[in-house]
Amino acid sequence: MKKIIVSILSLALTLCASAQVKVSDDRISVNTGGMSLILNARQGQPLRFVYFGARLSDADAEAIQFSGSRPMNAYPSYGQGEIREDAIAVTHADGNMSLDLAVESVATDSTKDADILAVTLKDKVYDFRVKVFYKAFRDVDMIETWTEIFNDAKKPVVLRKFDSAFLPVRVGDVWVSHLYGTWANEGRLVEEPLNRGILRIENKDGVRNAHTSHAEIMLSLDGKPSENTGAVIGAALCYSGNYHLDLVTNDSDYHRLFAGISADNSSLTLGKGESFRTPELALTYSDEGLSGASRNFHNWARAHKIMHGDKERMILLNSWEGVYFDINEPGMDQMMADIAGMGGELFVMDDGWFGDKYPRLNDTSSLGDWVVDKNKLPNGIQGLVDAATRHGIKFGIWIEPEMANTVSELYEKHPDWIINAAGRDVVKGRGGSQVVLDLGNPAVQDYVFGIVDGLMTNYPGIAYIKWDANMSVSSHGSSYLPADRQSELNIRYHQGFASVCDRIRAKYPDLVIQACASGGGRASYGVLPWFDEFWVSDNTDALQRIYMQWGTSYFFPAITMASHISAVPNHTVHRVTPIKFRIDVAMSGRLGMELQPKDMTEAEIAQCRQAIADYKSVRPVVQFGDIYRLVSPYDGLGIASLMYCSKDKSEAVFYWWRIDNLYDNHPPRVKMAGLDPDRMYKVVELDKAPGRPLSFEGKSFSGSFLMNNGLEMPFGFSDDMMGYSSRVLHLIAD
Ligand code: DGJ
Repeated sequence: MKKIIVSILSLALTLCASAQVKVSDDRISVNTGGMSLILNARQGQPLRFVYFGARLSDADAEAIQFSGSRPMNAYPSYGQGEIREDAIAVTHADGNMSLDLAVESVATDSTKDADILAVTLKDKVYDFRVKVFYKAFRDVDMIETWTEIFNDAKKPVVLRKFDSAFLPVRVGDVWVSHLYGTWANEGRLVEEPLNRGILRIENKDGVRNAHTSHAEIMLSLDGKPSENTGAVIGAALCYSGNYHLDLVTNDSDYHRLFAGISADNSSLTLGKGESFRTPELALTYSDEGLSGASRNFHNWARAHKIMHGDKERMILLNSWEGVYFDINEPGMDQMMADIAGMGGELFVMDDGWFGDKYPRLNDTSSLGDWVVDKNKLPNGIQGLVDAATRHGIKFGIWIEPEMANTVSELYEKHPDWIINAAGRDVVKGRGGSQVVLDLGNPAVQDYVFGIVDGLMTNYPGIAYIKWDANMSVSSHGSSYLPADRQSELNIRYHQGFASVCDRIRAKYPDLVIQACASGGGRASYGVLPWFDEFWVSDNTDALQRIYMQWGTSYFFPAITMASHISAVPNHTVHRVTPIKFRIDVAMSGRLGMELQPKDMTEAEIAQCRQAIADYKSVRPVVQFGDIYRLVSPYDGLGIASLMYCSKDKSEAVFYWWRIDNLYDNHPPRVKMAGLDPDRMYKVVELDKAPGRPLSFEGKSFSGSFLMNNGLEMPFGFSDDMMGYSSRVLHLIAD
């Protein structure tokens, strides 16, 4: 590991600090293959933002000047010069509420994957420092930025605001794309122009930070967002807890993005010598439109940000919608046999398997008592692991380790372990008795780690954990934190969560873990460093999933999106869609099943068996390929379509879904993207519908034809398709 520390005083010489970070006099450029971030760092002066966007040549990086009417600090602080929006605000021990940060030193560092710039800013009067970091990856177009805040003074400092980063974006016809939603409707896309005022995207759930707003945005710089053309900046805050992303547009000639942990009711005290590290904001840039920015996010995620990003995901059956709490040994065995018979690779036993004194018969009790219910499972978990082995598949299990019910042995023993304001009624959630454990408390951290450790030690055959979280922090109070640190509750919770996850990953690096949080509440880069995937939504309706998965794909690759074939009428929206449509939607993510196989017809089982075999044949393309979104469901054209192309463009998988059922409505022919124009691609339909062959099945077309014309998808109004016709094509280069 190379480390160069450079005092700005000694920067008379031009230095080339590392491949990605170049320091030349006051000018610093932080580069990836396709992006540059330019700063000015003159000692004794604020760190200045100059440019962020497409990669600049060295000459341009030297010559370029900030184009705004007023210089902009790269990390604005409150109280001296800046008194409007700021990235950091503190109160010193003497009551002074201002900061005046100036460059003290510049350092660079290298890791296996990236080069890191660290600029140390020091207050001109107080013993207070902020280190601003920029980490530029060598193999992907992503720069992560964060800060570390140090109190070097003898007395405590209160942090009133502590953002990860600030980014100015030149005013123009700039649009923002972001996700919002609620339970059963996560990841819905909203696209809007940036107008005067403040657009605040925030989440204050306390536990699950992606059900409603998402901590990721894209900014289309060339007007209304377009999928495959135009300049786009992407930003994702990598934090599991409460956050805000503010887009401030006022009289300045820049929109200003501030992103970080939500400081609302969460001020932090730094004692003498203490420091605080803010979460990373990941920044990308693409001139290939929204899909280009998505590809950058996906490449970065698989290579650097999600657990096991280079490993194919197993095809599974989850028991929840099939049996809900009605867990029993013969039932689990039958489900294992059925998924194995269809070619699946994993069975996951969901909620309902635990509880001794208080058996988990429904959601009113037992969270916290992670012992097997012997009445339901006389041979325990080992019996199920053995059964899975007999069926030739892996076994997975559901837990909700951050939670308890007040009706549980755990709560009887440790009523002080829950989050709740002192002296007030206990606020209860799901089932009228759910409570959140205080993960800021090290004893609780040990207990939560012990749940996973206990399961894995006793049953090393467990291959997969579905980690659920079904409650918000709903009362503010910790019996662990001292009176003067109660405001730190939310932040300490997520530090505790990170520390437990670190311990689990240190001991169980191969375990597959799904982040579920009442559905998609943890679709977040704040949790994916430890988790392999997330449950996109409890809503498994194929039609609504097209919308949710479309939005989610802006930021998250298919490998992270658990997408299951479920029964009809759908359990959430009661819609009936054909089995083919349900399969074709689930096949665009990490394929799984969420139903009772014994209720399926022979024909449905045969079709799922075929679809699972088909999915296996294209799994690497779907899970590791480049996404090209083609026709958005949000555009009201009656169809939605996207495709994944392998990196070498030798294969692609094309999806086409008819999403409305109006006569005389002519959906557009879809032009493909991402192919090699000069190669010929043979078309093979996947999940073929009986009796509906495509006229071009087995024929070859040039990439250029497919991208300039596309193939005409037949559709009809037959009873069995109910308007929801769909097609999945495998394109194989000759
Ligand atoms: C909420 C999850 O989202 C569901 O998939 C299921 O695991 C239930 N919890 C179990 O209680």
